[in-house]
Amino acid sequence: MRADRRLFVLLFLFSLCPAFAASAAEADLTDWLLPEPSFPNHNPYSTAKAELGRLIFFDPRLSPGKNLSCLNCHNPGLAWADGLPRSRVSGLHSMPRHTPSLINVAYRDNFFWDGRTSSLEAAVSEHLQGIYIDIDGMLATLRGMPGYRQRFADAFGTQDISLPEVAAALATFLRTIVQRNTPFDQWAAGDPDALSAAARRGFALFTGKAGCIACHAPPAFSDGKFHRSRLNSIDPGRYEITHMPGDRNAFRTPDLRQAALSAPYMHAGQKPTLISVIRYYNAGGSSTDIPLHLSGRDMHDLEAFLKSLSGPMPQAAIPQLPVP
Ligand code: HEC
Ligand code: HEC
Repeated sequence: MRADRRLFVLLFLFSLCPAFAASAAEADLTDWLLPEPSFPNHNPYSTAKAELGRLIFFDPRLSPGKNLSCLNCHNPGLAWADGLPRSRVSGLHSMPRHTPSLINVAYRDNFFWDGRTSSLEAAVSEHLQGIYIDIDGMLATLRGMPGYRQRFADAFGTQDISLPEVAAALATFLRTIVQRNTPFDQWAAGDPDALSAAARRGFALFTGKAGCIACHAPPAFSDGKFHRSRLNSIDPGRYEITHMPGDRNAFRTPDLRQAALSAPYMHAGQKPTLISVIRYYNAGGSSTDIPLHLSGRDMHDLEAFLKSLSGPMPQAAIPQLPVP
């Protein structure tokens, strides 16, 4: 009994030692690393498919006015988003919403702010119909170019070009837009110098007093669920899909990797900077409505931590597009 107590006291004293605390934390942090993205059985990866998806992504000739491609709103130079509070093009949704970054879209299991589709292929397909509207015209343009016919044959073994193949190619390309080597990941993988002291304090707040981890869960920094937002009482959000009262004005928790590079924030771009998001939470912004009582230094530490979740922007070279 007494020996047990002595061991306990010893362990307690030991746990106060910073070296012990650091190694204990490191042991837990492997859960925070993103695995390689996976490709679904119904749409496995091939280079031919990803390459075809890249061409379609950048090709404005597929839109009715021959002037709009995915690039207009998901620009690789703007974290694969558009830097605008709300998208300017109607037809995406009845409510104007902020364009989400496509970085790490491979790890999401529902899509759009209201989660109205649960596969990336379905999301892309719906989106094409919303933006390009004239799907027959888009398919005719693709079928009219030998370069595209050849690439569809390489990717799918058929020259029969239809909407599901277009969506499958785009989805395969999108799943290659990944960033999982940020300063935070290097720290979580064991490099103690990869994070500043401020960012490490921010991590402790994120997982502790500030409670962010409840919704921004590892490794993608999102629980993939929907939470009521106090920022909007007009956009029904998730309610439109489920018709459950608790889902009124609820939106999907965005992941926070690369967020430092994709301002503005929230489903309708209501917050211009990370620090303004943190201040909003500090004032009781999350759906729990409880102020966090963080100090100014705490808030800057949280900001430093959020910044450590961004690494170099995943790039994609603008491809040589097929000609008629
Ligand atoms: C006019 C701007 C615009 C264009 C062009 C556009 N998007 Fe989007 N995209 C948006 C907006 C806005 C949303 C969010 C809509 C919502 O949540 O209701 C979105 C959402 C998405 C999503 C869901 C992401 C997520 O995390 O939920 C995917 C995937 C996507 N777009 C891919 C594409 C692809 C591929 C193209 C080209 C075929 C494209 N987008 C063209 C504005 C655009
Ligand atoms: C109750 C769940 C919940 C908690 C707790 C929570 N968030 Fe969020 N977070 C969300 C949701 C949902 C959104 C989108 C809200 C909207 O669009 O109105 C969001 C949005 C964000 C965004 C904007 C990201 C973007 O790309 O637009 C940031 C940054 C963020 N949260 C950081 C934090 C931080 C830091 C904390 C802790 C202080 C925190 N969150 C706590 C659910 C939560």
